[in-house]
Amino acid sequence: MSDPTAGGLENLLSEDRRFPPSAEFVAQANATADLYAWANADRPAFWAEQARELISWSTPFEQTLDWSQAPVARWFADGTLNAAYNAVDRHVEAGRGDRVALHFEGEAGDTRTITYADLQREVSKTANALASLGVGTGDRVAIYLPLIPEAVFTMLACARIGAPHSVVFGGFSAEALHSRILDAEAKVVVTADGGFRRGAPSALKPAVDEALDKGAPSVQHVLVVQRTQQEVSWTEGRDVWWSDVVDPASDQHTPVDVEAEHPLFILYTSGTTGKPKGIFHTTGGYLTQAAYTHLNVFDLKPETDVYWCTADIGWITGHTYVVYGPLVNGATQVIYEGTPDTPHRGRWWEIIAKYGVTILYTAPTAIRTCMKWGEEIPAQFDLSSLRVLGSVGEPINPEAWMWYRRVIGGDKAPIVDTWWQTETGAIMISPLPGVTETKPGSAQVPLPGVAADVVDDEAHSVPNGSGGYLVLTEPWPAMLRGIWGDQQRYKDTYWSRFQNLYFAGDGAKKDDDGDIWLLGRVDDVMNVSGHRLSTTEIESALVSHPWVAEAAVVGANDETTGQAVVAFVILRGDAGASQTPADEVQAELRNHVAKEIGPIAKPRQVLVVQELPKTRSGKIMRRLLRDVAEHRQVGDATTLADSSVMDLIAQGLSTPQSD
Ligand code: WTA
Repeated sequence: MSDPTAGGLENLLSEDRRFPPSAEFVAQANATADLYAWANADRPAFWAEQARELISWSTPFEQTLDWSQAPVARWFADGTLNAAYNAVDRHVEAGRGDRVALHFEGEAGDTRTITYADLQREVSKTANALASLGVGTGDRVAIYLPLIPEAVFTMLACARIGAPHSVVFGGFSAEALHSRILDAEAKVVVTADGGFRRGAPSALKPAVDEALDKGAPSVQHVLVVQRTQQEVSWTEGRDVWWSDVVDPASDQHTPVDVEAEHPLFILYTSGTTGKPKGIFHTTGGYLTQAAYTHLNVFDLKPETDVYWCTADIGWITGHTYVVYGPLVNGATQVIYEGTPDTPHRGRWWEIIAKYGVTILYTAPTAIRTCMKWGEEIPAQFDLSSLRVLGSVGEPINPEAWMWYRRVIGGDKAPIVDTWWQTETGAIMISPLPGVTETKPGSAQVPLPGVAADVVDDEAHSVPNGSGGYLVLTEPWPAMLRGIWGDQQRYKDTYWSRFQNLYFAGDGAKKDDDGDIWLLGRVDDVMNVSGHRLSTTEIESALVSHPWVAEAAVVGANDETTGQAVVAFVILRGDAGASQTPADEVQAELRNHVAKEIGPIAKPRQVLVVQELPKTRSGKIMRRLLRDVAEHRQVGDATTLADSSVMDLIAQGLSTPQSD
């Protein structure tokens, strides 16, 4: 494990700029400072109150928290509910059916406005169609779709039936999709012919075909949305068009009541080993914290706000802050299929002006990209509707924070830098926009109801001004209930580093006020453009290529993407690589990783080396490789078995190859 406090982040803590919320904002804010005291006085009772207040229960719960099977929590376990009912039907029943739920904006400029009443019909039809394909309560459904309304309908249709969904990001490869389908034993896969990406249709169905050709005995049907009108190959009996089964289905469907601890979804995320972890979340606790955080952190006013979270539904942010949080709260939101620069670099700002977006939630990597494009681009659009800005996915550097505030937020909208993980299910550490005096670059304080700390190697809480490991010290409602099919791995990964503390895998510091600053991962997980990637997974992909004998991967600092993948490989002497020019070898290996995992995992650089730096016990010293990749003086190499290795590597360093 690397030293969480290493890496030149000291300067972050000299930050002394402070941004208190304006008096006007405070006067209308949902969350007030007394929430902290209330939650601290009796944390479970606080959560029970949120659960009763924000969620509609079919059977009210009596039990709040059962921690007797720790580290597997049970929240509100004797209650029953349905997630889709909470996200859709109850708003219609309360007379809000005409409110817009989704303003969909396709990349090509096509739009669709979906009210809550429309959503109820669409979700019901989809649920009936899935049921006709054999999906019942407890069955798993894999979803491999672009960010189109059907993705939201399908997730909610699954929730309506009580069939856990497993959304696989459309940028993942057939190989990655295959392993996820197998692990979850999905009965149905929902996909599209393709989606629009950077002005062109990109295919999805071929990846599903390829994944299923590898063998997936659990899959009975593939439900295919027509989005791009591309040619697709077809397996009779297995494949069905959306238009053939969903469109004609009845729009009446009764949501299935499930127990609060019924699994709502599985979402795979990278861990420190090669095999992705199927993080699974249950219904009652997850929905409670999704709704609570969405309401308070973003100060949502469902009647007047227009909310936009730019995440794809393939990630946890898309689950909690595109689908469940906003819809359970009855919000009006924008969803956008495409990229920020298609057809022009002002596209996001144009969308904000068009819909009058009031709350924007995005990732630092996107902000840094827009900074690079220049502030004259957002300046061409009216962004004055924005009143709250959120950030998620990686530490936000103070320059990006200040730019976000000034250029996008007109120097008035509070910024909430929200720390959380796939595993935590919902936001854990964040300012409250009407309470906290914000500091550029710090996520600052655990939310009311959340207990976090920074500890040293011996699990002792560090004093203010010191660094260590971020831990969560009390169970929270939206916490993962485990790793699908592997509860031992759940315990080993999160609960073995420190006794009775959830180890998040992040390094952190407390400043002199006790505010928390996140310093990045301390394990072998990288964060590229806010996406989690495992070094081991990419190394396995590289060594699966016949040319590669050995590989080591590191995450190097990158101005735009936060980190970038840099791979060091040793080639096999006997393989075709020796006859191939070096740049072709590198291109071939970069593409191989893209094919095995997905384009997001494609290394920025592949460096061919003769040796890798190893300790006498044979462990690769990635720290030294990171020094090389970041063009730094190589650090202490005295524990290397052969200390001349680093000189050889540094000499062989070539120019960047990313495209
Ligand atoms: C990182 C995304 C600093 C962190 C919601 C965490 C952050 C990992 C922040 C989880 C933030 C997320 N500041 N780091 N505001 N938000 N992270 O599972 O390293 O895709 O462990 O969930 O992202 O990534 P995941």
